[in-house]
Amino acid sequence: EKGGYDHFMLKEIHEQPKAIIDTYRGRMLADEGIIKMAGVDDNLEKFLNADRIIIVACGTSWHAGLVGEYLFEDMARIPVEVEYASEFRYRNPIITPKDVVISISQSGETADTLAAIKLAKSKGAFVFGVCNVVGSSIARETHAGAYTHAGPEIGVASTKAFTTQITVLSLIALKLAKAKGTLSNSAFHMYLQKMQLIPDKVKKLLQIDDHVKEIASVYKDAKNCLYLGRGFNFPVALEGALKLKEISYIHAEGYPAAEMKHGPIALIDENMPVFVIATNKGHYEKVVSNIQEIKSRNGKIIAIVTEGDVTVKEIADHVIEIPDTEEALTPLLTTIPLQLLSYHIAVMLDKNVDQPRNLAKSVTVE
Ligand code: F6R
Repeated sequence: EKGGYDHFMLKEIHEQPKAIIDTYRGRMLADEGIIKMAGVDDNLEKFLNADRIIIVACGTSWHAGLVGEYLFEDMARIPVEVEYASEFRYRNPIITPKDVVISISQSGETADTLAAIKLAKSKGAFVFGVCNVVGSSIARETHAGAYTHAGPEIGVASTKAFTTQITVLSLIALKLAKAKGTLSNSAFHMYLQKMQLIPDKVKKLLQIDDHVKEIASVYKDAKNCLYLGRGFNFPVALEGALKLKEISYIHAEGYPAAEMKHGPIALIDENMPVFVIATNKGHYEKVVSNIQEIKSRNGKIIAIVTEGDVTVKEIADHVIEIPDTEEALTPLLTTIPLQLLSYHIAVMLDKNVDQPRNLAKSVTVE
């Protein structure tokens, strides 16, 4: 049942190339330059006339929502708010019939997310679901939606659900950008071609598992870890920290890299591993200077860089290279080594990887 892997989590990490293909198959016709998604096509006017998009979700799905914010705003120029479902539902939020609410949930059963969409519906908003489990409560409660086709996710720590959620959000953002004309035709085509290359790049990344394992063995006894990223990779930093906390019980925090000097930098000493996403697109120089600030305080740097990087390689204690792609698509790649890292640390610490303590796969109570 685990397909030869020691744990469901590792199996599911390795299923990502296929899960991403399954999610865009039949929807993205790269050569024809078309994205077909019935749930969006049938409601295109609602999306195009929306005053804003409100994304509601919890946990890892909320992190995918944050990536969605960067995608929708950058590509389709639609204002986006990303909300923890649990906060949103009790805040007496302002929701109007001109809002589009996107709820993201692997299980489709998360109590707070379900309650948030019921509230949004009662205020007249159009509610769109991004779920993995077919026929789940959230899938049924939403007006329309698009499934992620990740297949069953058994490990409690979400992995392939996250990357397929980002895949769906990318497709919707691109589709809306094309319809609105906020992305040129050539950029649209270029993104489709680049998206098609992602599964092979993920496959290639999965092959560096031994290198990630080595890094895991160096830092497995850390008591605290920091994860930093900017732009599209800020949510990936949050997700990297969450994965480590959940399955290894090591305290970890994710931060936007530039926020470091507003507090967390006080934590840096020789015992603090800092995982920094420093790909060559978007804010590279700024992230490099953040890395220098950490190094000058003796922090340990494990950097995720783009293949061929020279600058960060010289400063960092360890580097993990990812294949080059467009900045907006990098979360689909930078996520992978962070998942593997958490997995290996948890295994080395002899933790119950697939069923971490105190956690449930679907949180059906608030
Ligand atoms: C993280 C994790 C949780 C879930 C969260 C939302 O690995 O599993 O944070 O992401 O409980 O669950 P869904 O997506 O089912 O609504």
